[in-house]
Amino acid sequence: MDRTAFAIIILVLNHAIDKMTSKIEPSHTVSSNIDPCTLVLFGASGNLARVKLFPGLFRLDLLGRLSADMKILSVGRQDVSTDEWRADIKSMLDTKFKKGYDAKVFERFIARNFYHANQPDDLDSFNKMKATLSNEKTFPQNLAYFLSIRPSDFASVVDQLAAAGLTQEDKYWRRVVIEKPFGTDLPSAQELQKSISKHLKESQIYRIDHYLGKSALQNILLQRFTNTVLEPIWNNQYIDHVQITNTEMLGVGDRTKFYDSTGALRDMIQSHILQTLALTTMEMPKDLTPDGVRAAKIKVLEQIRPIPVNELNKHAFRAQYAAGEVNGEKVPGYLEELGDKTSVVETYAALKLFIDNPRWKGVPFYIRTAKRLHEADTRIAIRFKKAPLQVNNQDQNWLIIGIQPRECIKLEIQSKIPGLDIKTRTVQMDAANRQPDDDSVDAYEALLLNLMEGDNSNYLHISEAEAQWRLVDPVVKTWAADKKPVHQYIAGSRDPKESSVIFESEDQFWRYSIELGGDKH
Ligand code: BG6
Repeated sequence: MDRTAFAIIILVLNHAIDKMTSKIEPSHTVSSNIDPCTLVLFGASGNLARVKLFPGLFRLDLLGRLSADMKILSVGRQDVSTDEWRADIKSMLDTKFKKGYDAKVFERFIARNFYHANQPDDLDSFNKMKATLSNEKTFPQNLAYFLSIRPSDFASVVDQLAAAGLTQEDKYWRRVVIEKPFGTDLPSAQELQKSISKHLKESQIYRIDHYLGKSALQNILLQRFTNTVLEPIWNNQYIDHVQITNTEMLGVGDRTKFYDSTGALRDMIQSHILQTLALTTMEMPKDLTPDGVRAAKIKVLEQIRPIPVNELNKHAFRAQYAAGEVNGEKVPGYLEELGDKTSVVETYAALKLFIDNPRWKGVPFYIRTAKRLHEADTRIAIRFKKAPLQVNNQDQNWLIIGIQPRECIKLEIQSKIPGLDIKTRTVQMDAANRQPDDDSVDAYEALLLNLMEGDNSNYLHISEAEAQWRLVDPVVKTWAADKKPVHQYIAGSRDPKESSVIFESEDQFWRYSIELGGDKH
């Protein structure tokens, strides 16, 4: 995973996680229904581990969700003693949980931790790791490897683990977590897959998309399929179009190098947004098993019609932010931050997609993502078709599912304005999916628990990763080859007006905000 990505996530979530921990009632007992395992954490001193993984594991321990014998073997290049490493972990927790934490659980947690110095390309270090892990008294023999390392090292680390005999499952399980991105296009994803599948079965590979660890995304299937009011109208008979939006007010920060080799389409749409689309559009899974859920997602991802590159400008739009003002602060444009005026890499990307199946035939899906827009918001907005009775040019109904920052579901309907005349106005039914006292679970915390439980329903199957690359690759290629300067939008502004070229009909427009009036363009 591009680790600098997390610097940004961290800023946003730091405060939230701190608040969460002070609320937890610490559990002095531990989970007995989860296999004891050793988590071998590669890249343990990196940003992701410091800010997400150790705090997440600690919170699981606070909640009593780790097994009594669970251990963590941190792996890094530096030669540090286990005591020094434990002191470092304490400093990570101190930084994260400023309001303090339960001392008893801390002692239990810190005693779970060990350190092993390892060079990623040195088989000898892997053999030494194997010798360390073979101490059954200390280390449970179920092994989960979390690769929080450079994506270019994924394949070679798996090779070395296999060469040291550390990937074979017999009496005990072996699982490998691969961070995002899984490849940079379809051929590289397939090459990585070919390489790691020499040593691992599909059931052993846990490909991360951290959006699947978010409670708000997990809620989509439940809201759709455990209620009878939504599913009957969730189709082309009633739905005019769907918009899936993720916008950020932050810019690319110090990730310019990574970002310029990636762009918004690959960074957000290929992964998080297409997963959100899959959950929004999939058929009801045969059952709620990992295989059942993933099979239904794969099916719909594979039914998305390829984007026609010969008329790309009707289906896709890209732009870059120019200097502007965000939250009252002047900010530079993307090209200035990059120091290269020739880049055509997009910080705004919008696509129009169609799904070729009976449920969605003819319904456009507009998906977009951007850095430095006027608001930070992730949502699914569904506009329904016109009602049979039209009074004074009324608005159409919208259903909005707020993912972040507000987890909510809102329905906009027309209602009579009290008085002598027959006139309508839009009213919004607004249900918070999150109540003030609900626990906030970080996506990584949820995914780490799923990993130890052996539940990979919130991890990507290779066919999902492939379908997602297959869809975006032609657009990425066509955009990269077109060196004309790309459209600019002022940082802090709304979507560039020109992006509306992708709409199917003139009465369609970008929905702004989840609030009432967000459909006024
Ligand atoms: C990461 C992207 O995968 O997701 C970042 O690389 C993006 O560019 C981040 O900012 C968004 O995650 P979240 O959880 O903050 O919405």
